[in-house]
Amino acid sequence: MNIELKRIKFTLPGREITLDVVADVEALITDLSDADKVPCWAELWPAARSLARYIWEHTRLHGQSVLEIGCGLGLPGTVCAVKCGVVTFSDYNSDAVELSLHNAAINGAVAKGHLGDWRKFVLDDKFDWIIGSDVFYDPKLNPYVKALIEKNLKADGQVLISHQRREHTYNFVKHLKKEMGFAEIRIDKIETDEESVYHSFSISIHHLIKKLKHA
Ligand SMILES: C[S@@+](CC[C@H](N)C(=O)[O-])C[C@H]1O[C@@H](n2cnc3c(N)ncnc32)[C@H](O)[C@@H]1O
Repeated sequence: MNIELKRIKFTLPGREITLDVVADVEALITDLSDADKVPCWAELWPAARSLARYIWEHTRLHGQSVLEIGCGLGLPGTVCAVKCGVVTFSDYNSDAVELSLHNAAINGAVAKGHLGDWRKFVLDDKFDWIIGSDVFYDPKLNPYVKALIEKNLKADGQVLISHQRREHTYNFVKHLKKEMGFAEIRIDKIETDEESVYHSFSISIHHLIKKLKHA
């Protein structure tokens, strides 16, 4: 990867995560008119920070398989790997997958990578968890992500989604709950984060859990 990086710290209660992030995201912009060429993977979005905190405080992941989709810089997946989850980072941008694997490694964790576009996703493995921060923003892509979740989530698997209160994401979650029979823990909050360029942001986190079927 021939991209200039800078090292930052992300603070969790009782643990500091080290991350190498892109030093100059604007330098990667080539064509803003093509959504597939916008380097949104290179920014550490507030939704990733919030999901990382939620995962740290509210999940038990030891030995559980986790697929992070649209991993970008891989902060939530790195926290899963630090909690001894068996993590696969996935994105359609190879630099994102490479940097996420690097970020897990500099925190002493091991992970796998999968380069794949949701529109032709060929991974066959089934996961205990599928997680994604700021990824369900495009209604044209959401049907592909739904198919991915149907195919790659175990029957008793769980899904974690975080976003900056996007209407398309709320609609997608509503649809997933109805079609796939998920129960939901939902958290809406305003977070203050001095380390983020945004300082204060509104976030929703959806923790989707398969409902038990009674005989
Ligand atoms: C807004 S960024 C979020 C990045 C990261 N999860 C975060 O919250 O900081 C969206 C991510 O989804 C990835 N992505 C977008 N469309 C995709 C597609 N069709 N297939 C796979 N990944 C995709 C992008 O490369 C990018 O990493």
